[in-house]
Amino acid sequence: MKQIPLFKVFMAEEVDQPLLDVIHSGYIGEGEQVLAFEKALKEFFKTPYLTTLNNGTAGLHLAYHMALHQDGPKTWYNSNDAEVISTPITCTATNEPIIANGARVVWADVDPITGSIDPDDIERKITPKTKAISMVHWGGNPCDIERINAIAKKHDLKVIEDGAHAMGMEYKGKMVGNWSDYTMISLQAIKHITSVDGGILMMKSEKDYERAKLLRWYGIDRTIREGIDLRCELDVPESGYKFHMNDVCAVVGLTNFKHVNEILKKHRENAAYYYEAFKGHDNIVCCPENPDGKSAFWLFTIHMNNRDEVMQKMKEEGIMTSKVHARNDTHSMFADSFDPNLPGVEQFNRTHLCIPVGWWVTEEDRERIAKLVIKYAK
Ligand SMILES: Cc1ncc(COP(=O)(O)O)c(C=O)c1O
Repeated sequence: MKQIPLFKVFMAEEVDQPLLDVIHSGYIGEGEQVLAFEKALKEFFKTPYLTTLNNGTAGLHLAYHMALHQDGPKTWYNSNDAEVISTPITCTATNEPIIANGARVVWADVDPITGSIDPDDIERKITPKTKAISMVHWGGNPCDIERINAIAKKHDLKVIEDGAHAMGMEYKGKMVGNWSDYTMISLQAIKHITSVDGGILMMKSEKDYERAKLLRWYGIDRTIREGIDLRCELDVPESGYKFHMNDVCAVVGLTNFKHVNEILKKHRENAAYYYEAFKGHDNIVCCPENPDGKSAFWLFTIHMNNRDEVMQKMKEEGIMTSKVHARNDTHSMFADSFDPNLPGVEQFNRTHLCIPVGWWVTEEDRERIAKLVIKYAK
């Protein structure tokens, strides 16, 4: 029986030679390959304010750092001072950097079918302590980005988009990364495009961009200048992190990135097939694509009352399905944020299931998957 995975690492066949060239070049740190990768990414996302990092979580950490500590290190909050409104329907990586930056998470509810954070609930949760709003584009399907940014503007808050799943997502005719203060895209192993591990942070302001470039390397300015020894920095005004990408990851990312459009096309074609295949089957509710955008379909999410049973049956048929992320507000680390009244979160978490949709899923595979889901869903 053919096994169909839910995720698969995409590694371009032609990666071997450029990778070997870099490994043996004598320079494997942050250098020309990182610059070349960033140039290609800036053209694709159509923004000049983009940095690569060693993972997506680092991108979120930097985004929260900048959003919560706008005047630099003199304004460190502790969790009694600052709140970030966020969603529990995500990877814990969305929310751990909030507490790592000294703020408290305040949970907003989500739409029970799309899993997108609910803008009305965001507004209800705003207090004088709120500093930022975080949204997650579940499976690469855009949230209501414009409305959330309008709410943020009204209350003078920063906006962070966790677009870990959202490589190539579009919203209102613009590429992801052009709306909010900070947008992160993950380049981790199983994402559309991987650099082995890696992340992208896009920013709206040049000031944040310049700051991020410093913070990703301990706060040190690495611009090559006549008479300045980079190893012996003059002054470090703000302490940062070791979050930069290296040339080995960058050459893998850049080589894979040349395939981004064909990968996205396959994800989208498979998704379109599922929408048709599940039409008229009332016991299977598909997560709809935001009509204002184009999902990247890193995931294809459906809802069924007997979700756990279907998951088990699909496993027996050799097809990997998963919830991918479960609500993370119930973890002990978020105990001081617990909110028992999140009905959308409760419903989404009880019924959602992700089925294989990626570039490796053939026409035959998707037909088989759809037939089996229809057979087992109650
Ligand atoms: C929603 C979400 N946010 C953040 C991350 C973290 O990204 P990375 O693994 O690149 O650090 C992930 C996982 O990859 C994720 O799924």
